[in-house]
Amino acid sequence: MLTGEQVRDFRRDGYLKLEGFADPAACDRLMARAAELIDGFDPASVQSVFSTTDQERTTDDYFLTSGDKIRFFFEEGAFDAEGRPAVEKQLAINKIGHALHDLDPAFESFSRDPRLADIAAEIGLAEPRLIQSMYIFKQPRIGGEVVAHQDATFLYTDPISVVGFWFALQDATIDNGCLEALPGGHRLGLKSLFRRDGAGGVATDTLDSDALPTDGYVPLEAPKGTLVVLHGLLPHRSRANLSDLSRHAYAVHAIDDTATYPLDNWLQRAPDMPVRGF
Ligand code: FE2
Repeated sequence: MLTGEQVRDFRRDGYLKLEGFADPAACDRLMARAAELIDGFDPASVQSVFSTTDQERTTDDYFLTSGDKIRFFFEEGAFDAEGRPAVEKQLAINKIGHALHDLDPAFESFSRDPRLADIAAEIGLAEPRLIQSMYIFKQPRIGGEVVAHQDATFLYTDPISVVGFWFALQDATIDNGCLEALPGGHRLGLKSLFRRDGAGGVATDTLDSDALPTDGYVPLEAPKGTLVVLHGLLPHRSRANLSDLSRHAYAVHAIDDTATYPLDNWLQRAPDMPVRGF
């Protein structure tokens, strides 16, 4: 799939942008399927989860047990000051995660594209396994900022192996909060580790007192159908979407099964749902 130059670019920059990778019709089908999933989702079922007395704990639980499920997470701006819905359901969801690639046939076939298997092999994943998928809505006007991070903070393996495959299902522009990446920043090492704390919650360990840089990021504007391959150590972020246009994206993350996957990673799957490759 990749030329030698593209592999070199990925190694140098920590990312690779492939415009026109996904057929626009395939993007449309995935967007339609996401809309169907939201149609079938009852927000009240989750609001009850979040309205208990120990809110932090139940919010953590809903997230921490989502690694092998299809769950819905709201934009912070989806509710008014009294906690009532401020926008309709289809415009309130921040993301769907984290096992779409295993549980939904439309997402499974999109994710298990033989061309992705080729790319994974070409950039050095010996035994790729699909560990996580997310449908990201970046809703008009309330689509939240994603602060700078490295994906290996959340999907750690020893040695580090995670790679992100990020697809623009709609045009991603500076106006609607496209990805921004720090070229070459994957050589800075892992800065922090997000993990289960052993008491039902989560903690973030600082591994390097030098925090992630705040300058030097470049916008990765991406027309619909673009694939961006992201090294797991690459610092990246996206700004809030204050525009009137949504910025739907789908991301699937692969790890190498030759690396060790720790039991205190936040994402754990049931024994009857082992990770699978492409
Ligand atoms: Fe990320």
